[in-house]
Amino acid sequence: MTQVFLNLLINAVRYTPSGGEITVTAERVEAGNGKPARMRVTIADTGPGIEPEHLPFIFDRFYRTEAARTRNSGGMGLGLAIAKQFVLAHSGSIEAASSPGRGTAFIVELPAE
Ligand SMILES: Nc1ncnc2c1ncn2[C@@H]1O[C@H](COP(=O)(O)OP(=O)(O)O)[C@@H](O)[C@H]1O
Ligand SMILES: [Mg+2]
Repeated sequence: MTQVFLNLLINAVRYTPSGGEITVTAERVEAGNGKPARMRVTIADTGPGIEPEHLPFIFDRFYRTEAARTRNSGGMGLGLAIAKQFVLAHSGSIEAASSPGRGTAFIVELPAE
């Protein structure tokens, strides 16, 4: 899980211009109807966001958006693919929500107990 959250935090720092804001929240989510509770950790930034046409692919190996490749900053496009496999191995889920120009939020959910 250290690797997962490190990857998400490094992305948030890398892709958010200076003066931006990164918010980390953790909450317990009760599923109800006898299902186990989950722990939800959200890492949100005020960076450039991700265009909807890229969003379905960002967890694919080696996938980087045009903007990330052009800026030529950082990685190989593996961080989110690794994060997803690790989260799945812990019976969790990971999703991204983004509004271009406003920012991106990564939501990780894991069994709470
Ligand atoms: N917080 C973010 N804000 C904007 N774009 C992001 C963010 N996190 C990831 N991305 C996009 O998703 C792509 C894949 O991320 P990742 O797998 O970590 O690869 P890398 O960071 O090595 O490029 C990035 O290249 C970038 O285009
Ligand atoms: Mg990365």
